[in-house]
Amino acid sequence: MQKHLVNLLAWVDERFPLTSNWKAHLSEYYAPKNFNFWYYFGSLAMLVLVLQIVTGIFLAMHYKPDAALAFASVEYIMRDVSWGWLIRYMHSTGASMFFIVVYLHMFRGMIYGSYRSPRELIWLFGVGIFLCLMGEAFFGYLLPWGQMSYWGAQVIINLFTTIPFIGPDVSEWLRGDYVVSDATLNRFFAFHVIALPLVLLGLVAAHIIALHEVGSNNPDGVEIKKNKDPVTHIPLDGIPFHPYYTVKDIVGVSVFLIVFSAIIFFAPEMGGYFLEANNFIPADPLKTPAHIAPVWYFTPYYSILRAVPPIFNSQFPGVAAMGLSVMVFALMPWLDRSPVKSIRYRSVTYKLWLSLFVVSFVILGYLGTVPSNVWGTFDAATSVVGGADRATIVARIFTVAYFAFFVFMPWYTKNEKTKLVPERVTG
Ligand code: HEM
Repeated sequence: MQKHLVNLLAWVDERFPLTSNWKAHLSEYYAPKNFNFWYYFGSLAMLVLVLQIVTGIFLAMHYKPDAALAFASVEYIMRDVSWGWLIRYMHSTGASMFFIVVYLHMFRGMIYGSYRSPRELIWLFGVGIFLCLMGEAFFGYLLPWGQMSYWGAQVIINLFTTIPFIGPDVSEWLRGDYVVSDATLNRFFAFHVIALPLVLLGLVAAHIIALHEVGSNNPDGVEIKKNKDPVTHIPLDGIPFHPYYTVKDIVGVSVFLIVFSAIIFFAPEMGGYFLEANNFIPADPLKTPAHIAPVWYFTPYYSILRAVPPIFNSQFPGVAAMGLSVMVFALMPWLDRSPVKSIRYRSVTYKLWLSLFVVSFVILGYLGTVPSNVWGTFDAATSVVGGADRATIVARIFTVAYFAFFVFMPWYTKNEKTKLVPERVTG
């Protein structure tokens, strides 16, 4: 039997590089031996990607991309399709988990300087993935055709109207109509189920290919390829990805699945953070909800949008700031001039700046969920017009802090008082 299998493998290998790829990317891909907790999130992101695609395929079998039928088709999935509620909750919870995992994955890159040379392209493909993911979540959110789907899309597409000169045409082109309508739903469905997933898969492939070309970074920020065994040319601080990290990743996957199941079975709406109450009401183009807020993963950027005051009655500065707040990550490999990569050997100054960034991100995220009177207060009883409310002022302060982290990076990293980086990884 074994002889037949060996022969079969030889037959395949003559026609397809199966064994050589298995070796190059798994059994002979040498990863640093000191990966820690933070290194779980890359493989978890891949797991969630697969889960989203599989559950998405099953949802698409019953979902109807038609403004007259969409809302009811989702309710049908929830109530009548066998296990439909599970598939839908897996997909809606999966969306939030995707962002949690990717945010932690990006943070890992930030603390260990994984975006630095020679890993700039891994990072840039990552930023592309992140943009794509945001698009994917935005398009998907319109599909249940609830009140939040409808008005959320209305608000976001209207933002494009503020772009000078071409704005109104751009938003009409995106909608395919003068208002969010059946045409919009149809095209968002096409983007959500095929266009963006294809781009996403392509980018993830490029991300991994780039990673395997240069090799993984690690919590010490030491390049393991610099210390190779003179005879075997295997990095001295490297261990084969398979079986060592495949086994380690199973631990991460198990813990992740426990948390994921707990949410799905006990709190699929997560107190309105994963599924908003207003979205259980069918879309009504004649009735604007009192408080329109995006899902939690967009709220830091939404806060930045609201924090920037209009100029000449145009909201464009806020829109531009929101766009910049995401795109600015792409510049990190060139903004950071520190002589060391890992947080372990960086200065207190850098740690304080990074903490300021994290605090700003979290506070902006929170502020984006609360209603705020953005352009000032108006007391109907007294007709007194006041300044921006407290939430807006706090959002302005932390918007400045958020951007300061990036803008001043070349200066505060250049002359950093760093610790001595060891020659070999420390564990
Ligand atoms: C669908 C989303 C993503 C998937 C499936 C994914 C997958 C992976 C995997 C499997 C690894 C290797 C394992 C690990 O280092 O944890 C990795 C490494 C990396 N990823 Fe991602 N990633 C995604 C999104 C992102 C994003 C949004 C960024 C940054 C903007 C990013 C930046 C990086 C960097 C810099 C590394 C190298 C880390 C190192 O060597 O220390 N990734 N990614």
